[in-house]
Amino acid sequence: MISVNFENLKIVYLSDMEQNFVAKNAHPIKDNFITRWQAPSNIALIKYWGKTTPQLPKNASLSFTLTHAVTQTQVEFKPLENPTEKVTFSIIFEGEEKSSFRPKLEDFFANILPYQPFLAHYKLTITSQNTFPHSSGIASSASSMSALAACLVDLESQLSSLSEEEKINKISFLARLGSGSACRSTQGPMMAWGTHDSLSNSTDLFAVTAANIHPVFTDFCDAILLIDKGQKQVSSTLGHKLMHQHPYAEQRFAQANDHLAELLPILQQGDLDAFISIVEKEALHLHAMMMTSDPYFILMQPNTLSVINKIWTFRKETGIPVCFTLDAGANVHVLYPNNVAEAVNQFIEAELLQFCQNRQCVHDKVGTGIKKY
Ligand code: DP6
Repeated sequence: MISVNFENLKIVYLSDMEQNFVAKNAHPIKDNFITRWQAPSNIALIKYWGKTTPQLPKNASLSFTLTHAVTQTQVEFKPLENPTEKVTFSIIFEGEEKSSFRPKLEDFFANILPYQPFLAHYKLTITSQNTFPHSSGIASSASSMSALAACLVDLESQLSSLSEEEKINKISFLARLGSGSACRSTQGPMMAWGTHDSLSNSTDLFAVTAANIHPVFTDFCDAILLIDKGQKQVSSTLGHKLMHQHPYAEQRFAQANDHLAELLPILQQGDLDAFISIVEKEALHLHAMMMTSDPYFILMQPNTLSVINKIWTFRKETGIPVCFTLDAGANVHVLYPNNVAEAVNQFIEAELLQFCQNRQCVHDKVGTGIKKY
């Protein structure tokens, strides 16, 4: 099928699989519709870094879905007299009209209009807030794009019938077109995105839950240490692009897929030592890609390294299975099983908070994904 996107005057070719995500018989309704959804952030254990158009990952990734770091989004859909060629919307974030959010949202709506053409018949008022500190460096695109996608699919399900499975997959499918990692925030405790031989139902188009996870991982804790809350010098979008001419790109994509193959049985067995080894390697290999890009860049800060060294010393001295991971920034995610939470929290308080801006840390844990609020 060919779909014409008037706004950017481009023709979008949809594969057979993508055609399955075009809204069916979705005739716009005459009444206002309001819906509210919240979605959590997620933290990748196997990292997505490198993609092709339209938002397809170069390797499979896998993440813990979080609980407390969430975006809450309300969308009011008002029917328009005449349909427009692009999605008409306003965005209010934490009480203020946010024009700086418009370019990313305009791209998102241009990407998803072929799949939800009925959106051209509405004016959308999007009102959104985060439960985690503003500008904390915690990636909010994952939680915000999946919360918004959930609202959009809620409208679609009023217009045409969708099974629960169709709904959840469509939310992930649309969220991916806003931000890749957002597609992994819809369900818990862990989601994988990207076609992979070891995951029979995996696909590049939406994320799926990782099955048979050992109980030790289903209530894992993640203390997010806010090392640097400033604006990142290099955005993830640029970082992904730099993987196109990267000398180690192909090895990195193969390695991430190998790490996922190794990690899946470890997640089923509950082998914490093996878990720690893969998770820390993934974090450092992600940042090694940044340091070996052209142009090269470093997102870690001196305090990031101080924290990592403290974690290694504490783990060696106590035998407590605590480890770290990093996303595309300086903040450190301290990961540990719930049954050692008391000892690790004391360690964080006594030895790690000194490296955080204003001693700030967000205590989060593995969660279940999107929900209405
Ligand atoms: C390092 O999902 O933020 O957090 O698709 O361009 O929005 P876009 O990128 P984004 O990239 C996330 C990168 C990462 C790793 C991960 O979450 O897998």
